[in-house]
Amino acid sequence: MAEQKVAIVTGASSGIGRTTAVALAKEGIKVSLAARRDKEAEETLLLVKQAGGDGIFVKTDVSNEDDAKSLVEKTIKTYGRLDYAFNNAGVVEEPASFTTKTSSIFDKIMAVNVKGVWLSMKYEIPQMLKNGGGAIVNNSSVYGVIGHPQLPIYVASKHAVLGLTRAAALEYAKSGIRINSVAPGAIETEMMEQSIGNDKQLREALVALHPIGRAGKPEEIANAVVWLLSDKASFVTGHTLLVDGGWVGR
Ligand SMILES: NC(=O)c1ccc[n+]([C@@H]2O[C@H](COP(=O)([O-])OP(=O)(O)OC[C@H]3O[C@@H](n4cnc5c(N)ncnc54)[C@H](O)[C@@H]3O)[C@@H](O)[C@H]2O)c1
Repeated sequence: MAEQKVAIVTGASSGIGRTTAVALAKEGIKVSLAARRDKEAEETLLLVKQAGGDGIFVKTDVSNEDDAKSLVEKTIKTYGRLDYAFNNAGVVEEPASFTTKTSSIFDKIMAVNVKGVWLSMKYEIPQMLKNGGGAIVNNSSVYGVIGHPQLPIYVASKHAVLGLTRAAALEYAKSGIRINSVAPGAIETEMMEQSIGNDKQLREALVALHPIGRAGKPEEIANAVVWLLSDKASFVTGHTLLVDGGWVGR
């Protein structure tokens, strides 16, 4: 029997990361769960095991280089290989006017959303080269493709994720590593709750941006990620897959 594949999922303690980790486990892929929150990450690990999968939790702040390096080292120590990565950890800023944003907000968003994705790939890619290939999906956003008022730093950070994806995809295309991004519309997760809270009007306005008539579910992003990582997407690299209920195409 072929050796079981191994995936890293960052930001695995909730939302899209948690759901994708479970979806990968259901495909028979071992998962290395990178997250900062112990309790929530242990809950994800339990869900992975309940789905019949195998996984480990590696406490990781993706914006910290030592953590990003040791995430890959611990994954290799446990499973001996790395085939896939879903670089998903991200943070969003409070909506506010462009000129009110502070340097500390800028540094925080960029550290997680941009430096975190770059550092993750920096340590994942050499391991994938050792097995002769692999696949990476980075989590961007519709805001990686279009703008939005009051979220300038988040928008810039998600555009940067696409830049990192395209540059790395070109560099490693001949080495058997495919590197793509997903660009979700609004997805029902903690992040969406944080952005809109109990504001019914804001929720309706957000939902109205989706021609499909609703926000997405984490499972709908997980399905796209599982496909992009799989051999079924063997001719897809450097691509941004919108999973947005039609938002950007309006
Ligand atoms: N929910 C949406 O509407 C939406 C839309 C487009 C893109 N996204 C992107 O999807 C990704 C996942 O977000 P989500 O919606 O599941 O929300 P979420 O808040 O549930 O997930 C984000 C995860 O990243 C983790 N994280 C944050 N900073 C980290 C760090 N420094 N190191 C490690 N982990 C860290 C959080 O703890 C959390 O588990 C994010 O990159 C987000 O920008 C979300």
